[in-house]
Formats: sequence, structure tokens, C-alpha cells
Amino acid sequence: MKWRALIFLLAIPAFCLGFGDGVREHSLREAAQASGILIGTAVRPAQLSEAAYASTLAREFNMLEPEDVLKWEVVHPERESFDFSQGDQIVDFATRHGMKVRGHTLVWHQQNPKWLTEGKYTSSELAQILEKHIKTVVGHYRGKIFAWDVVNEAFDELRPGKLRSTLWLNQPGIGLAASGSSYIERCFRWAHEADPQALLVYNEAGAEVVNPKSDAIYAMVRDFRQRGVPIDGVGFQMHIENLRADVASISANIKRFTALGVQVHITEMDVALPVDPNGNPRPEDLQQQADIYREVANACLSHPGCTAIQTWGFTDKYSWIGSHSKHTQGAALLFDRSYAAKPAYAALRDVLTTGRR
Ligand code: XIL
Repeated sequence: MKWRALIFLLAIPAFCLGFGDGVREHSLREAAQASGILIGTAVRPAQLSEAAYASTLAREFNMLEPEDVLKWEVVHPERESFDFSQGDQIVDFATRHGMKVRGHTLVWHQQNPKWLTEGKYTSSELAQILEKHIKTVVGHYRGKIFAWDVVNEAFDELRPGKLRSTLWLNQPGIGLAASGSSYIERCFRWAHEADPQALLVYNEAGAEVVNPKSDAIYAMVRDFRQRGVPIDGVGFQMHIENLRADVASISANIKRFTALGVQVHITEMDVALPVDPNGNPRPEDLQQQADIYREVANACLSHPGCTAIQTWGFTDKYSWIGSHSKHTQGAALLFDRSYAAKPAYAALRDVLTTGRR
């Protein structure tokens, strides 16, 4: 009896140190606690009823973001009606599990309903529609959504440094096309009126490194800050293709933006891999993918103003990369299709455990 008790007592510290069989390692959200960084993921409400999806989400993340259901086509299906049912479902999940919610997105050129894009509105009608949309959606989630991607992808892909031609800028636009980023400024001011506490973010693709697009965003944000336009953050999407990430340039970019006094969020990270027709990646690519997650997370943590790392989904079972790449790419996330953690997961957790240096 005595021996048994002794063995039991000796086993306790070994178990706590992680030597015991079946010991659970820290989750990402536990690892993130020390550095206070937010670790998030995009979420689709239809999947919340799947037990493995819901339990992984709640266990691993302290932040989430509706992937599609706060976009105009879902939340504002008719000119006079809003539908918050799916957004509310996600926000309720977050509340029940002590998670923060990012809102995505109030102004974009994609996923807009036909009544809007084909409505042939005048600029002043469009301005009224946009103001009402921003104030209604932000107002509905006031105090529940802590940060908003107010404007998404407003800079052009092909004309470096130029604003993209969109419904909002000049087709017909809200009447401010001749004055550069003024339409973006208006949107930030409307969002701020609707929720003065919310962190207001400008979100962009392909601007994570120092390049002409990020230079233009930098100039805009600096101007906004100097003139007191309520902008609090910049989101870098971080959709990485071809296993290529210039981490030195990503880090330099985060540094210059945070020096303006805005926070940086990594908002949509995934690292797409080539996959075979069954959706399987090459085993050797998984390690390179892990290295990219590690290095990007390290770059974020090395700047105190980089306050959130979010992935665009968390299981390869549900990721936009498949349809986006006509199923030639995939396996871009932290968990495989059976919710098993991939090398990228361990790499990211290591960085979060080490924390800020
Ligand atoms: C994507 C979603 O993941 C897909 O489900 C949807 O069909 C298309 O949009 N940049 C963004 C995101 O800001 O909103 C996009 O999300 C991916 C690219």
C-alpha cells in the first residue's frame, strides 16, 4: 500500500511536467495568454453544430471572425432589411466561450447583393445607403464586436499605389472620387459614430511586405492619424502562396505601421500548398509550411503593436483555398481534415509559448 502511494506521489510531478502518457499540451489560446496576444480564426456558422469543429474552435482560439456572414450579401439582403441571424449565432458562440469577435467587413467590392450593385443609385443615394449600412451593422454589434475591418482591399492590384475602381469610389462612388481616400475616411468616421469604443481597422491583401501598395496605405494611415481620422489598426491578410514569405520585409512593414501608433493585426493567414487530386499535400511541404507560420508569428510578436494573429479558418476540411485555386492548392491551415494538429500548429504554439522577447 505504502509503495503504491509513493509511486503515485512521484507520478504527479512527472505528469504535470508532461512526461505522462496522454498528457494534454497547452492549446494555442493557453499558450497565447502570457504574451496577451489574440489568436483567432475565421468561422462559418453552418459548421458550429459539428462537435469536432466547435470543440477545437473553443479550445484553441480566444478570438474569432465571421468568414462571410457579415458581408453585405448576407447581412443586408434587401435594401430595407438586415439579417443578423448568422452573425448573432457566431457572436453567441464567442460569448459563451470567452472569445473576442472581429467584424468583417463593412465596405468591400465583393460579395455585395444585386440590389446594391445593379441599383443604379446616384452618388448621394449611395452615400446614404452606405452610411445607414455602417451605422446599423456596427450599432447592432456595439459592445460585442471589439474590432472592425471597416474597409477591405480598397487599393488596386494592378496599378501600384492607386485606389481600386469600385462601386464605392467611382462606380458611381459616394461622391468623393476626386479626393483620393476621402471615401475611406468617411467610412471610418461613420463607424466611429456608431461605436466609439470599437477598434477600427483598414484591412488589405498583398500589402504585408514593403511594396507600392503598402507604401500607399502607409501614406493614407499617416495622413489619417495626423488629421485625427479615427483609425486604430491595419490588418494584413497574409494569404501566402508558393511557400514564399519575405519575413524580413513583413517585419519591417509591421514596424513602420506600428510606429504610426496603430495596431497591426494579421487577419487572414493561410499558407496554401500544392495538393494532389485527393487534396493531399506533399509531406515535405508541411514542414516548410510550419516554418512560415513560425516566422510570421515571430515577426508579429517582435513588435509590441502587433496584437493579433488570425488564420482564415482552422481545419483543412473547410478552407476557401480549395475553390479559390480550382482545387490545385489546399492544406493551408493548422489542422488537417480530421482535426489532427499539423506541424504548423506545433510551430505556432511554440512561438506563442515563448511569447514576446
Ligand atoms: C472569402 C471566403 O473565405 C469565402 O468563403 C468566400 O466565398 C469568398 O471570400 N479576402 C477577404 C476575405 O478579405 O473576405 C475573403 O474570404 C478571402 C480574401
